[in-house]
Amino acid sequence: MLDGFTHLSGYFAPSEQVELIKMVQKLVAQAPLFRPKMPRSGKPFSVKMTNCGELGWVSDKDGGYRYQATHPETSRAWPRMPERFLELWADVADCPADPEACLINYYAAGTKLGSHVDSDEAETRAPVVSVSLGDDAVFHVGGLKRSDPKTRLVLKSGDVAILGGESRLAYHGIDRVMKETSELIGGGGRFNLTLRRVTPLPM
Ligand code: SIN
Ligand code: FE2
Repeated sequence: MLDGFTHLSGYFAPSEQVELIKMVQKLVAQAPLFRPKMPRSGKPFSVKMTNCGELGWVSDKDGGYRYQATHPETSRAWPRMPERFLELWADVADCPADPEACLINYYAAGTKLGSHVDSDEAETRAPVVSVSLGDDAVFHVGGLKRSDPKTRLVLKSGDVAILGGESRLAYHGIDRVMKETSELIGGGGRFNLTLRRVTPLPM
């Protein structure tokens, strides 16, 4: 595995996970989950997404992968990033500026996210910091090439994973979400939050 990948198991205690999921539900009420579509083919993702922060990640057939300041369906600005998210970043990111985007993914049981690199950010010196909430997920992280060997690990509710340093541009994805492995989310499934810096750092 490349240097700079960190798995902080149980970073958030169960009571904090409850607070976080309430925040996520509030954010989703303001900025509803949408289903992004693959560039060119227009094929829908199985994962649903929304964002908070100044910028949010979106994708559709004609515009492709990108960050923008507004929700693609409501055209409203994304909700502000909760303070607790900024505190997490300050604690673990080793970055002199705040994150600008938090992508919120929702995985129903049985959904997956294919292997990809997070490469739509102009700034890759900053890490991507991820928080898992709800059902367990099998996560893989590989190398800089799609064909590089992959390490698989289970991300559990409350875990934080960091793709920083050399691993910032590593291939990664979610192989599967394991049904009924957590009671955090009514209706089941898994939320993942990824905090990102998008524009170049002032340094
Ligand atoms: C992502 O790569 O955007 C999300 C990873 C995860 O769900 O853990
Ligand atoms: Fe990613």
